[in-house]
Amino acid sequence: MKILVIGSGGREHALAWRLSQSPKVSRIFVAPGNAGTATEEGLENIPLTHIPDLVAFAQKENIAFTIVGPEAPLALGIVDQFRQVGLRIFGPTQKAAQLESSKDFAKQFMKRHAIPTAASETFTDPTLAHAYITQHGAPIVIKADGLAAGKGVVVAMDEVQAHAAIDHMLVDNRMGTAGARVVIEAFLEGEEASFIVLSDGRNALALATSQDHKRLKDGDQGPNTGGMGAYSPAPVITPALHAKVMREIIMPTLNGMQKEGLPYTGFLYAGLMISPTGELNTLEFNCRMGDPETQPILMRLKSDLVDLIEQALDGKLHETQAQWDSRVALGIVLAAHGYPDHPRQGDVIKALPANSEEAHVFHAGTTLKNTQIQVSGGRVLCVTALGHNVQTAKKIAYAVADHIHFDGLQMRRDIGHRAIDRK
Ligand SMILES: Nc1ncnc2c1ncn2[C@@H]1O[C@H](COP(=O)(O)OP(=O)(O)O)[C@@H](O)[C@H]1O
Ligand SMILES: [Mg+2]
Repeated sequence: MKILVIGSGGREHALAWRLSQSPKVSRIFVAPGNAGTATEEGLENIPLTHIPDLVAFAQKENIAFTIVGPEAPLALGIVDQFRQVGLRIFGPTQKAAQLESSKDFAKQFMKRHAIPTAASETFTDPTLAHAYITQHGAPIVIKADGLAAGKGVVVAMDEVQAHAAIDHMLVDNRMGTAGARVVIEAFLEGEEASFIVLSDGRNALALATSQDHKRLKDGDQGPNTGGMGAYSPAPVITPALHAKVMREIIMPTLNGMQKEGLPYTGFLYAGLMISPTGELNTLEFNCRMGDPETQPILMRLKSDLVDLIEQALDGKLHETQAQWDSRVALGIVLAAHGYPDHPRQGDVIKALPANSEEAHVFHAGTTLKNTQIQVSGGRVLCVTALGHNVQTAKKIAYAVADHIHFDGLQMRRDIGHRAIDRK
């Protein structure tokens, strides 16, 4: 069978690579893909991004099913458009994708269904928003309602910062429509983890747990990024906590969406905050897998990913289990000069090591120019390795990463520190 993967990042490279290993697959198309998906055995890039073109391609090529990597096409209704013409596609409809595309929708939904999350209120009027901040004080969190590519949240440690964020979003309209409505919510303390499931609308199949590293610099310093590394499993998610997340967050979400007439199909990602006393809260939902969490999660997946997705498309996840490698997987992001604010393009990537059973270099912001692989985006590569514990996985991943060179390369040296500190 032929499968289509939508997107061009490290997440999509990992999805396409894992799918390509199924004996059922003849070819994986990646739209538009990157230099990694262009050169990986069994994968082929197609230079399409507009939804009607993708629909036409899937029809012409007789694609068995399509998987959507990023949130933007989901929020534009790619799933609705594929389904309208009878094409199989794994993801939420445009309306169900509001769990990610509108933070206000997600918060109201969680309140309606008693899903644990920080207390909040939504504002469009700056005067009322300022008054709310004055009343509640800092620390406090301001979130743009719409999609903002990871740049829509201000964790304000003092009131001055909080008021400035309101002016930035509601008065100066610096974030456009995404920031024309804001959620203001209580600050939560604790450790974050990513909890991702496959959903068929009724049933959920949990993927392995993971944690990422959002800050640019070692020791969780510097600006926020899309993610500088991740590992799986996340030791903070104990078996008891895992059961609690399924019981208090995942299942009430799927049941609630179904009751409201918006059955949720696709990957569902709950961003968790676990307080020092073990209290559980939902920070947000994403309607897709995380990047870079996908890379270590899929390194550990032993089941056939095509089977899992087909079971989900057929509504049979209650009959499905996933097998995981007992090893730890750890991925290190290699980012471009100037990332995250002004990533430089065009630097030439030299000496990419060969992939092996225990280490894989997933591409993100790369492009093939003649025979050269060049930097074309902020996060460039994610070197992901398996090891018998987190220290070993880390050692193997850095040994591979240290062989890679391009001018201006940035990477953290402490990926995995939370899991290592815990031991
Ligand atoms: N209520 C909160 N308390 C403390 N930190 C928060 C809170 N909400 C979000 N954050 C921090 O901000 C980051 C981004 O917020 P999130 O809701 O995940 O939005 P997005 O991923 O869309 O930017 C989180 O990963 C977390 O570190
Ligand atoms: Mg987030």
